[in-house]
Amino acid sequence: PLKLAIIGGGSSYTPELVEGVLKRLERLPVKEIHFVDIESGQEKLNIIKALAQRMVDKVGANITLTASFDRRAAIKDADFVMTQFRVGGLQARASDERIPLKYNVIGQETTGPGGFAKALRTIPVILDICKDIEELAPNAWMLNFTNPAGLVTEAVLKYTKVKTIGLCNVPVSMKMMIAEMMDCSPNDLSLEFAGLNHLVWAHRAWLEGKDITAEVLEKVGDGANFSMTNIFEEPWDPTFLKALGAIPCPYHRYFYQTDAMLAEEKETALSGGTRAEQVMETEQELFMLYKDVNLDRKPEQLEKRGGAYYSDASLDLVDAIYNDLKTINVVNVRNNGTIATLPDDAVIECSAVVGSWGARPLSVGQLSPAVRGLIHQVKAYEQLTVEAAVHGDYEKGLMALVNNPLVPDIKRAKAILDDILRVNRDYLPQF
Ligand code: NAD
Ligand code: G6P
Ligand code: MN
Repeated sequence: PLKLAIIGGGSSYTPELVEGVLKRLERLPVKEIHFVDIESGQEKLNIIKALAQRMVDKVGANITLTASFDRRAAIKDADFVMTQFRVGGLQARASDERIPLKYNVIGQETTGPGGFAKALRTIPVILDICKDIEELAPNAWMLNFTNPAGLVTEAVLKYTKVKTIGLCNVPVSMKMMIAEMMDCSPNDLSLEFAGLNHLVWAHRAWLEGKDITAEVLEKVGDGANFSMTNIFEEPWDPTFLKALGAIPCPYHRYFYQTDAMLAEEKETALSGGTRAEQVMETEQELFMLYKDVNLDRKPEQLEKRGGAYYSDASLDLVDAIYNDLKTINVVNVRNNGTIATLPDDAVIECSAVVGSWGARPLSVGQLSPAVRGLIHQVKAYEQLTVEAAVHGDYEKGLMALVNNPLVPDIKRAKAILDDILRVNRDYLPQF
């Protein structure tokens, strides 16, 4: 029997996860789910627990649900620890998005300075969680969904002994959207993913043995739906896509179409509010629905959040590990030579064979010069951010921002860094 610990159990995404478990009961004998949160998340946690209980009762599953602030009790003897927490809440996210905009820099919660700030707040907490796992559940797998997922996973793999896989819903979403374009089942597609989290390319796409990469690029250039609900769908230039020769992820827009994305962000920040501010409203709506004692399933409104297919990405991973399926999943793991020119201990996002031993990435060797520069620069930023976050090192933090392709100038890098450190003071014990 399996025990799952969900850290950040009060997240509005939790019904996704519960649904993912309930859909797979024949393959995954889950007997216990422990949702943990912190005191400020109490109200959300209680609502989630009650909804989860109704979902479980509806299908008559024999699963014990616990909700508490006792992280150690949750982790003790867990088989899988799933992390989906947000240090500082949506308020901190709103400042991550707004600070860079003041300096004419992309304000986004996972890429650019926003993701940097989120990493500084998150890494001390996740390293602490890992200490508990090392002590209380040394054989557990930690599946990290907490953003910036690749960077956070890299910190964990470098500084702890915990078996960890990072995950994101972008690759699954790309697969679903490509299936839609090609009018085929997602199962008939094979996509060769390699890159970094939120900077991943599908280098080749296959449909039943036929290379369809060029066709997909044409359709994306033609305006086929290819974004996430949280990312503005700036149209792609067809000539650029053809020249690139690889299928970019929706987040690549921030790097390749910075001007348009920045202009759009500035405009929405003034009118409807930044994404965090919009999500605050969506969250209110969601929790109103979750409170309804007649609701016993995941409501459609959850699709307004960017995390669609989260439950499939995470529970498919649990399934592959627990049942030793040796299926291909897209994961964030240690590079180990998969992308030849990146360091071995860099965490990358790529297609991997997943079984009871964990994830073994499928090698891609050398990347073409068309994508090599960007990935190296962003990885340098990520490595420096991990060091800054772990050691509270101002100079590493500065060099991290200076190396981020979205930050064009050291004067602005320094001003942004100082703002981030000041505004987030309460969440940065390491500085
Ligand atoms: P949220 O603001 O609802 O936070 C989730 C819960 O975390 C809250 O109930 C909060 O109280 C709790 N929390 C805060 N600090 C905590 C701590 N120290 N220990 C335990 N719990 C704590 O956030 P959300 O929008 O549901 O997102 C949760 C996380 O998942 C974020 O980090 C987000 O970036 C990430 N996410 C990742 C992906 C992906 O593709 N990897 C997709 C969507 C969301
Ligand atoms: C995407 C990403 C996540 C991101 C989320 C934001 O799907 O993969 O990593 O955190 O959406 O969604 P939100 O609804 O919070 O803006
Ligand atoms: Mn993601």
